Amino acid sequence: MEFSNRIKQLPKQFFASLVIKVQTAMAEGRDIINLGQGNPDQPTPGHIVQALQEHAADPATHKYSPFRGLAELKQAAAEFYWNTYGVRLDPETEIAVLAGSKTALVELPLILMDEGDLMLLPDPGYPDYLSGASLANVRFDTMLLSAENNYLPDYSLLTEQQKDEAKLLYLNYPNNPTGATATKAFFEETVQLANQHKIGIVHDFAYSALGFDGEKPVSYLQTEGAKEVGVELYTLSKTFNMAGWRIGFAAGNAQIIEGINSLQDHLYVSVFPAVQRAAEAALAGDQACVAELSALYERRRNTFMSACSKIGWKGEAPAGSFFAWMPVAAGFTSESFADYLLEKANVAVAPGNGFGEFGEGYVRIGLLVDEPRLEEAAERIGRLGIF
Ligand SMILES: Cc1ncc(COP(=O)(O)O)c(C=O)c1O
Repeated sequence: MEFSNRIKQLPKQFFASLVIKVQTAMAEGRDIINLGQGNPDQPTPGHIVQALQEHAADPATHKYSPFRGLAELKQAAAEFYWNTYGVRLDPETEIAVLAGSKTALVELPLILMDEGDLMLLPDPGYPDYLSGASLANVRFDTMLLSAENNYLPDYSLLTEQQKDEAKLLYLNYPNNPTGATATKAFFEETVQLANQHKIGIVHDFAYSALGFDGEKPVSYLQTEGAKEVGVELYTLSKTFNMAGWRIGFAAGNAQIIEGINSLQDHLYVSVFPAVQRAAEAALAGDQACVAELSALYERRRNTFMSACSKIGWKGEAPAGSFFAWMPVAAGFTSESFADYLLEKANVAVAPGNGFGEFGEGYVRIGLLVDEPRLEEAAERIGRLGIF
């Protein structure tokens, strides 16, 4: 059986080879500290699990969901945005239920673009953005995120042709992999660009809850006019440690929301209703668990950064997310450095070039193990004497 060209041309999962290397090392009985992945290590808060258990026992949740998700969940999402960001959303026309935000990231080029159209993607950036571009058979140009520009794209570097041709632009703050956060002024500039050049904006807000040093990450939708030109993708994966549950929502522009719903009418019958009910419980419930989670990652960040400075590994402390973006030691590439740390220190990290050309020279550290293990990882790396 031959695969279609669509499947044959899908980008290679860069990190699949990292997973194999880590698993092989572990199978050899080595004590690997795995900082290479982005899988939250904490459990889902108890009240959310309990809501799932109760609703899973209710036969009402055993039937098909409405195609476009439960009204109660969309209402809870709208209220959550109002309470958290002061943003008003119409639950029925401005919110679409998603089986995790990854689905919409991949669906949106299919919904809003024709073959050969141009999209703009951040580099370094979350690799799944490329999957959507590939499935929809569209072109993409990358926007450099550099330390000098606080890992925000500099729109003045885009050519007139790029701005005129681009149909869609993806952003992600707090940022994976750099840990940078966006400012209100940057989102204002983004809305202006979108209006001037008729570009749809997709803000991937996966790390929405994880801002440090007293700074709460800004929602793209808090910007005046944002809803007219774009959507924000909100996932419960990180905010509530629900990565395995597959639940999130898109919020914002009613036409884009209608487009997502139209495609999803054909692909799914929404998400297991009990999971939607549990998501409603998460969004409508006490948010203390979210503040605690953000504080936990902040403590880990502080521990890791101070352990790194003790060994002479200089990097910028991330302002948000649960990643640290660290430069490689002199004489290494991203990949040779990651391989070296795994081989010699039993520490797994993600090579930065897996996030794009401009990720070269960095590795991404997932702050997803407890503080003593983070300290130990830095100590092991320190013993290699490479800084
Ligand atoms: C930047 C970014 N966007 C989206 C996602 C996907 O999240 P979800 O679990 O909602 O599909 C991730 C997951 O790691 C991510 O890092």
